[in-house]
Amino acid sequence: MNRVKTAVLVSGGGTNLQALINEQQAGRLPHVEFVSVIASRPDAYALTRAQKAGIPGHVVARKGQSQEAFEQGILDLLEKDGVQLIILAGFMSILSASFVQRYPRRILNVHPALLPAFGGKGCYGLHVHEAALARGVKVTGATVHYVNEIADGGEIILQKAVAVEPGDTPETLQRRVMEQAEWRILPQAAELAAQEILEEK
Ligand code: GAR
Repeated sequence: MNRVKTAVLVSGGGTNLQALINEQQAGRLPHVEFVSVIASRPDAYALTRAQKAGIPGHVVARKGQSQEAFEQGILDLLEKDGVQLIILAGFMSILSASFVQRYPRRILNVHPALLPAFGGKGCYGLHVHEAALARGVKVTGATVHYVNEIADGGEIILQKAVAVEPGDTPETLQRRVMEQAEWRILPQAAELAAQEILEEK
């Protein structure tokens, strides 16, 4: 079967990467082929997950080099592997407009809130859940969207709502949003995006 060569970009624990791997192994991502995992930090546990799943892992460290050199390092890997779809799964570095413009409707991002709420500058990781609790929302969730040159501004593919419970901390809320939303909609969106790429050909 025709499959879309896909790279997953990560920075940390990689639980979203794990969700993708699990769905792949369960046969639910028939049009997605993971060809590489690229980490912006050498200590990202996501690299261990990739290794265990037999996916080639690479480090392109953000630290210690310019934005241009960092992005060129990623582009070189993507081009070498003929990557057609890029998934940002807990990737904590900003990509420039010139990078993003090279891959229109080809970069997916998972964000731990219902965009446009709790998006934009400084809203990443646990900060998103801190902001949601501080605002007192009763419902939050996750969004998977295409990335364009405006941060968190691309077309939304899937969203899923999650209840905020009394007594939630940023950590308990983060965990619920991951379990109930992110780990479900990211693989679904990856398969949808891959099917769309194959249909365009
Ligand atoms: C996830 O909650 C993801 O949505 C978030 O970081 C976490 C990474 O966890 N991403 C962002 O905040 C991007 N703006 P993981 O490494 O275990 O997948």
